[in-house]
Amino acid sequence: MNMHIIATTPQSVADIDQDFAQFLKDSGFPFAARKKKSLECLLRENNAQGVVVWLSEGPVLYCGPEKFFFHPSMAKNRLASFRKFSVPDPMVKACALQDNDSFLDCTLGLGADAIVASYFCPSGEVRGLESSPAIAGIVKWGMKLYNSQIRWLNEAIKRIEVINCDHGQYLREQKDNSYDIVYFDPMFRKPLMKSQAIGPLRLLANPLPLEKKVIEEACRVARKRVVVKEMPSGSEFSRLGIEKVIGSRHNKIAFGIIDIC
Ligand SMILES: C[S@@+](CC[C@H](N)C(=O)[O-])C[C@H]1O[C@@H](n2cnc3c(N)ncnc32)[C@H](O)[C@@H]1O
Repeated sequence: MNMHIIATTPQSVADIDQDFAQFLKDSGFPFAARKKKSLECLLRENNAQGVVVWLSEGPVLYCGPEKFFFHPSMAKNRLASFRKFSVPDPMVKACALQDNDSFLDCTLGLGADAIVASYFCPSGEVRGLESSPAIAGIVKWGMKLYNSQIRWLNEAIKRIEVINCDHGQYLREQKDNSYDIVYFDPMFRKPLMKSQAIGPLRLLANPLPLEKKVIEEACRVARKRVVVKEMPSGSEFSRLGIEKVIGSRHNKIAFGIIDIC
């Protein structure tokens, strides 16, 4: 969705710090001086649909009734289940992640899958690509400024590098075999109505379906596997030519796997 987004400070702050200046540069969002005005007033004056408020703990985007900011709750729950009860994570299993793997997440979103991958690849590298400038900026800086008391979570988050770009273009520019795993979790063709955590993201996200030629590029760039998350009931796997699928029709999600070697 193409919306005009501005950025501002909280009412009590007038200055732009170094991080905020870099965020403005990265995102291209115009700065609107707060001057103690309400957010509604700033939106009206700037004819904008969304406003990012730069807080010390990370940027928050307000648009209509929705509020979008980085939070690692979904990743935290998945990792806590693994740490406490040894519950295997389906994505980790589908990717067969090893601790020194390089993992390219081509659809970063809120970064939950990237955080889980980063936890399981402590000696490798994790890069997340996101085509929506708003999502990329908020998640990148939310991750940078996030500070949890939980060391293992902090470490997993800080290892992730976020890049605002289209995955097709990025993949075309990479050498053959440059990442162990190339991963996709595109927006589902039919949204899962109950998935509230992803609600605000849906407003900002790139809704286009995955292209077959992007999967072909991913197969060139991956050393071990290309993995695609999808709904088991749709026809996306067959459209993309992916034959190996794990997760039955009774599951909400399934993983399509292309083994490279
Ligand atoms: C379902 S969300 C991913 C959720 C993510 N796996 C997580 O754990 O939070 C899909 C994301 O991919 C992004 N996206 C879609 N097409 C893209 C493209 N061509 N290049 C980069 N990002 C893309 C969308 O903007 C959206 O944020």
